[in-house]
Amino acid sequence: MTEAERTVQVRIKQTGESFPCSPAESLLAGMARLGRRGIPVGCLGGGCGVCKVRLLSGLIHKLGPISRAHVSVEEEQDGYCLACRVAPQCEVELEVAGKLQKPFFKGFACSANQDSTK
Ligand code: FES
Repeated sequence: MTEAERTVQVRIKQTGESFPCSPAESLLAGMARLGRRGIPVGCLGGGCGVCKVRLLSGLIHKLGPISRAHVSVEEEQDGYCLACRVAPQCEVELEVAGKLQKPFFKGFACSANQDSTK
């Protein structure tokens, strides 16, 4: 099995959702597979800050540089990162943060409402 084929579970603390993510892809790419509203499609290059998350447990590695306008050195030391620029190394738990929170939770509520009509 190659690194690209291996997946680990990523859990979002606030909603209890989890998704598989390869160590070779970004957390945002894996999160997009949840297939619901509220997952941003921003610059995908660490520049816009719409995909800000905070790592609560597990390990990640960087895929590229990020804008310090969106994650300061102090925030990074406190676990904050941009989901489009990091990938999981093992099972990870995170919480959505910053500008991502409002659309993310709104999209989650919409998905929950749709499920209740089934
Ligand atoms: S999508 Fe723009 S910083 Fe992640």
